Order: sequence, then structure tokens, then C-alpha cells
Amino acid sequence: MYRMELQTINSLVNGEIDYEDLRSKLLVNKNKPAIININFGTTYKGAIDDVDMILQILENCGYSNDRFYIHCDAALCGLIVPFINHAKIITFKKSIGSISVSGHKFLGCSMPCGVQITRKTYITTISRKVEYIASIDNTISGSRNGLAPIFLWYSLSMKGHVGLQQDAKMCYENARYLKDRLHKAGISAMLNEFSNIVVFERPCDDKFIRRWQLSCTRDMAHVVVMPGTTKEIIDNFFKDLMQEREKWCGITLAPCLADDIGSQNCLCSYHNMHH
Ligand SMILES: Cc1ncc(COP(=O)(O)O)c(C=O)c1O
Repeated sequence: MYRMELQTINSLVNGEIDYEDLRSKLLVNKNKPAIININFGTTYKGAIDDVDMILQILENCGYSNDRFYIHCDAALCGLIVPFINHAKIITFKKSIGSISVSGHKFLGCSMPCGVQITRKTYITTISRKVEYIASIDNTISGSRNGLAPIFLWYSLSMKGHVGLQQDAKMCYENARYLKDRLHKAGISAMLNEFSNIVVFERPCDDKFIRRWQLSCTRDMAHVVVMPGTTKEIIDNFFKDLMQEREKWCGITLAPCLADDIGSQNCLCSYHNMHH
């Protein structure tokens, strides 16, 4: 959108930013300031980037605070991770510029909406007068949905701190429940430390994939465990998967997922033998 030069940074097997790649690309571009998008829960694997490590790398590469801007994309996990014990936290006490959280994901607002939290100085810098409505605005287009904040406010007030905490805890526990069931059944699966996204071996049958609306990439599929994903739904899914899998297993070997989810999570015949 801004027609800026960009560098894509590699990711680690668990989906986190590849810190060494970030370091080398910062060094190559040392004469330019950096805008860095970090993830607080990546879309596919729910990986959380380490802000402290990134700040340390910036410092080591000679970037002073006025030569970088960090945006934290916390679209899904921004309302989950703060409620999980011992999880990493994002805070404006650190040198970050902004955080965004979607309202229609974990919170369940019925329309696409979200919140962007940033520092007052940045808001002042970009605020400008929109001539035809004679008011100050700081959105890109000068327009926004006025109803969305009311929905957001309503959802937040209805759930409250306690409700959000309960939902977060349930998703966290149910995701672990699903991952354990898959592992015990000999199915390769990965779950990042504070994540609610279980990545596992891609089912072989397209009908099964469509029935459960699984998003698949390469040999992986994932399940995003949300507040509506009850243990009962997980059990039904698991039962169906096991029944169908019996049919595939005779025909195809389980794929090796070591490159996608790490050898410690891969239960293909080779890695199973070596665990
Ligand atoms: C990490 C991440 N960022 C951004 C988005 C998109 O967010 P939105 O739907 O609020 O535009 C998603 C959606 O899945 C996501 O997972």
C-alpha cells in the first residue's frame, strides 16, 4: 500500500520469526530505518515472536529507538495469551509502536472489526482534518464503521475479564486435549506453547477435509480451538478422523512432517522408530 521496499523474513519450524535471518537482513539494510511486523500468534501455527529477542537484535545491529517501529499483530491471540499463566506478554513498557487485535475472532463479534492500540504521539502525527465532514480523523480512508466499536464494547462488557479468562483457559486446555489425543493415536501433531492452534497431518480424503472445513497447506491441516470448540466437538472430530484414517492407512503411508512441525512432533514411520 505504501510502496515501500520490503524484506520477507524466514520463519522457524514452529512458525516464529527466524531471528538469525532478521539479524542478517537488518545488517544488510543498516542504512535504512526498519518497520517490523511481529506476530503474537501466527495465522497457521499460532507462533509467538519473542519481542525481547527482537529488541536485542535491533540494538546489537545499531538501531536506536528512533530508527525502528514494531507492530505486534495479535489478531487472534491478543485476547487469549494475556490470560494464560506464565505466557509472554506484550506491553508498551517495551519499545513497540502498536498492537492490533481482531474483534470478530476470539471475541466473536458478528461483524469484522478490530482494535489498534498505539502511542498518542503517533496518533497526533497522522491525524488530519477530513474536509467534507469537518472533523479530525486518523484512518487511511477517512471513513469507518461506527457500529463496530459498539459491538466490540458490548462483547467485551458481556464477557468481562472473568469471561474472557474462562474462554481463554478452555481453548488452551481443549487444544492440548486434542493434540494429546492425536499423539496417542500415532498422528503427527504440533501445538505451540501458548497457542490454541493444533497443526497435524493432512487428512487424505477431500470429503473429510470439506466436512470439517479444514484449512490445509502442504501435508498439514490445522484446527483452531475457539470458545465454541467443545470437548464433545473435539471427540466427534477425533472419532470421525480415526474411522476415516483406517481406510487411508491401508493405502498410503503417513507423511513425514519433520520439516513442517519439527521431528519431535512427527510420528511418521521413520521418526516413530527414532523417538
Ligand atoms: C495473525 C493474523 N493477522 C491478521 C489476520 C487478519 O485479521 P482481520 O480479519 O482482523 O483483518 C489474521 C486472520 O486470521 C491473523 O491470523
